[in-house]
Amino acid sequence: MIIAIDGPAGAGKSTIARMTAQKLGFLYIDTGAIYRALTLKVLENKIDINDTASIVATAASTAINLVNNPDGSLKVLLDGIDVSQAIRQPRITRFVSDIAKIQKVREVLIKLQRELGLQRDSVLDGRDIGTVVFPDADKKFYLDARFEERVMRRYKELKALGENVTYEDIAKDLRNRDTIDSTRQCAPLKKADDAAYVDTTEMSIEAVVEAVLKKIRKTG
Ligand code: DC
Repeated sequence: MIIAIDGPAGAGKSTIARMTAQKLGFLYIDTGAIYRALTLKVLENKIDINDTASIVATAASTAINLVNNPDGSLKVLLDGIDVSQAIRQPRITRFVSDIAKIQKVREVLIKLQRELGLQRDSVLDGRDIGTVVFPDADKKFYLDARFEERVMRRYKELKALGENVTYEDIAKDLRNRDTIDSTRQCAPLKKADDAAYVDTTEMSIEAVVEAVLKKIRKTG
């Protein structure tokens, strides 16, 4: 079974997808982490962000893997090295949308996402899971939340990781990513026609997980 969870940054996708996968005993696949891992490699190798050919070549020659830890957290491996923390740095967040909008990069990374998802029952979260990666997913969700709430969630998340950020920094970054992610030519962020829309602004994490599980358990 494939469960697709899409939506903009800060809508609660990763937390909800991780908890849902854990409750169901499914594999959790954070597709944003895959784009982030590639972005880390591009920055570390000092590849120019406009050098599309080199970025595509890097995507094709890079091994990215996701390992579900027994406690439900996710380990992200970049060429065998654990980069789970490194990919959350603001400098990665700043450039990831520019890399994710390159069509040929998406082709390489979507193939990887399909391979990972077909290993066993999975919950995938991202921007285009229900529209492009797994258009035939068994259940699709589109999580959303008010802009200010999404900024606040990201702000708290990064503060908890010890990052030195301001609310305004995050607001600027989210606005920028929302624009790039939803206006890019290939696979822009949009709700699949058959996805359930969930506005999480006023909902607790537990309530969203409950709502998602209820829909998954309901057959048909
Ligand atoms: O969910 P996130 O913030 O970790 O995602 C990082 C970026 O990766 C996001 O700004 C857009 C891109 N992305 C994408 O284009 N397609 C996906 N399926 C997942 C993420």
